[in-house]
Order: sequence, then structure tokens, then C-alpha cells
Amino acid sequence: MTDTKIAISNLYKIFGRDPANALELVKNGVGKQELLEKHDHVLGLSDINLEIPAKGISVIMGLSGSGKSTLIRHINRLIEPTAGSMMVDGDDVLAMNKEQLIDFRRHKASMVFQKFGLHVHRTVAENVAYGLIVQGQGKKEAKAKSHKWLERVGLAGFEEHFPSQLSGGMQQRVGLARALATDAEILLMDEAFSALDPLIRTDMQDVLLDLQKDLHKTIVFITHDLDEALRIGDRIAILRDGQMIQQGDPQHIIIHPADDYIFDFVKDINRGRVLQVGTIMTKDQSRSTVTIPSDMVLEEALQTVATIDGQSANIVNASDQVVGSISLDQIVKGLARPEVEAQAGQYR
Ligand SMILES: Nc1ncnc2c1ncn2[C@@H]1O[C@H](COP(=O)(O)OP(=O)(O)OP(=O)(O)O)[C@@H](O)[C@H]1O
Ligand SMILES: [Mg+2]
Repeated sequence: MTDTKIAISNLYKIFGRDPANALELVKNGVGKQELLEKHDHVLGLSDINLEIPAKGISVIMGLSGSGKSTLIRHINRLIEPTAGSMMVDGDDVLAMNKEQLIDFRRHKASMVFQKFGLHVHRTVAENVAYGLIVQGQGKKEAKAKSHKWLERVGLAGFEEHFPSQLSGGMQQRVGLARALATDAEILLMDEAFSALDPLIRTDMQDVLLDLQKDLHKTIVFITHDLDEALRIGDRIAILRDGQMIQQGDPQHIIIHPADDYIFDFVKDINRGRVLQVGTIMTKDQSRSTVTIPSDMVLEEALQTVATIDGQSANIVNASDQVVGSISLDQIVKGLARPEVEAQAGQYR
């Protein structure tokens, strides 16, 4: 079991003149639309319960206005909740005084912003060092660390450039280096890659995944994009109208979308490149002498299994133990989009 790093319980956020009163309405079943139309309050978040494990990438998804930014900003208390609790490493973030909170933001949780948020009049190296100097570190030490992290994100040689002289992707590398340099265990990334071109965006995902292999940070990553979520997320949580609709293992969400809203998110993904054989295998062994790893994606498995006598293979886990089997037939079924079932209300 992994430890819980961030525990969010019964969290509500209501925007408006009298949130406390509106909260009662929401608890009595008034939804976002009605709260806005009849009571002039905006339901930002409604009864969110989410445990974010340490050392993994947890993705939060949802349509525009579903409450993603509101949720991530509660973690470092840029937003005060209307009700609920927010614990980080067992510490109550909502009970922190001003000083403790400043300390928490400087040392524990760093943010990477969508629009990079760099100081335009400071050099790249100064941008990265700034957070360290604010932490109270000496100039020399801050500079050395800043150079180290810039090198780590592939920007060696650009230390003395100004942000405006860099491309968007490079600017976001600076943003990432700045967040990493503080040594914070938690990275909060709100649509950090969304402003980038698709190819640059994929590059940045690689940079992040590569760093994560060594650093094992607890990363909360917000995105609109399911492909991005599937590429980097160990877990995915999906919001709609301020409510948590489904959360858990990405593979599970793809094959068991909780409702039509989730189904709309997952229906167009490239199942061949995303679904793994371990997700759709049967647990009994086949007679095949060929084994394939459980995290092999269907597209690849299709190529392999189609050429095997008997057209099936055994599946092994990371420790090389046989955990099940898969046939060509199952792979082909797995590739098909389950449209008809969903329309028939299968996922409700
Ligand atoms: N300061 C505020 N005052 C009033 N309403 C707000 C405020 N901040 C957010 N909201 C409302 O709360 C809801 C959630 O907003 P939020 O910014 O969290 O959405 P989001 O999922 O991040 O959307 P996007 O994908 O567009 O960034 C929206 O209905 C929004 O209008
Ligand atoms: Mg947002």
C-alpha cells in the first residue's frame, strides 16, 4: 500500500454572498444549475472526497467549469473551502496560521502554472533561483541549484536568457525547473502543458515522466486532455459540475466508465494504444508457450498474437509470473468501441 499524501474530505466550495446558507441547500440536494438560477450562488465543489497517494501522478479531469482549478487551489489553500477538510502528510492545512502557510507553500507544495508565470525582467536562472532566495537560501547556493535544475530540464546554456527569448515549451521548462528547485515534495500542475503545441506538449510529458522516475514527487496534474491523462497518470479523477464522478485506475475507467459523461470522455480514445492486455485478459492459462507482459497495449499484442499458433498467449506480470491469458478474439473485441452498450444505458 502506498501512503496517502493528500487527503481531501467532504470538501465544499460555494461562491457567492452567503455560502453557509447555500451550503445547506446543496446538502439538501440543490444542484449547480438550480443554485445559480434560483439562489444566485455558484457551486464550485460539492462533497469532494479524494485521497492522493504519495509519489505518484494523480490526474484531475473534467470539462471547463467543472471545478478542477478550484480543487487544486484548495490544496495549498489559495482558496478557502466553505466546508470540509484538507490534510497533507497528516497536517491540517486549514488550521495553519499565516506563517505556517507561507512555509508550506515555499517548501512543501510548488505550483506550475498554465501561463508559465515567469518574471519577464529576470533571467531564466534568476527566475529559478528566486524561489530559493525567498526560502532564505544564499545567492550562491541558489544560483548553483538553479543551474542544476535548468540542466535537468534540458536548458543548459540558456541561464542568462530572458523568458521572452524562449519558446513556449522552453518557458514551461523554466516553470518546471523553478518548481523542482524548491525541493517541494508536492507539485501542483494546473493545465501546465495545455498552452503548448502538441509535439512540444508530448516532449514536456516525457520530461516530466523522466524526472519522476528519479524524483518520485507527489504530482497533482490537471488536464482537459484524456490522452495526456492516460499517458502520465497513475490515477485519474473526473469532475463534473463540482462533483467527483469517478476516480481510480485509468485502465478501469476506460472499460468501466461510470456514466455517460465519463463515456463521452473515453469513447474516442485509441484503445489499441492505451488498453493493456492485463486489463482484458482471462485469468486461466492457455496452452501457448508464448508469454507477453501484462502492460503490453492491444495494438502491439494484436501483431504478436496473430502470428502465434493457436492465436493465444499467456500473460506475465512484472515478476514474470503467469497471471492469465489472452486470445486474438479477445484482443479484437477489446479494440472495438462499446458504443451500442453505452447507448443502451449499460454504464449507468
Ligand atoms: N472566484 C470565483 N467567483 C465565483 N465563481 C467562481 C470563482 N472561481 C471559480 N468559480 C466558478 O466555479 C466553477 C469551477 O471553476 P474552475 O475554475 O474551478 O473550473 P475549471 O474546471 O478549472 O475550468 P477550466 O477548465 O475552464 O479551467 C465555475 O462554475 C466557475 O464559474
Ligand atoms: Mg481551470
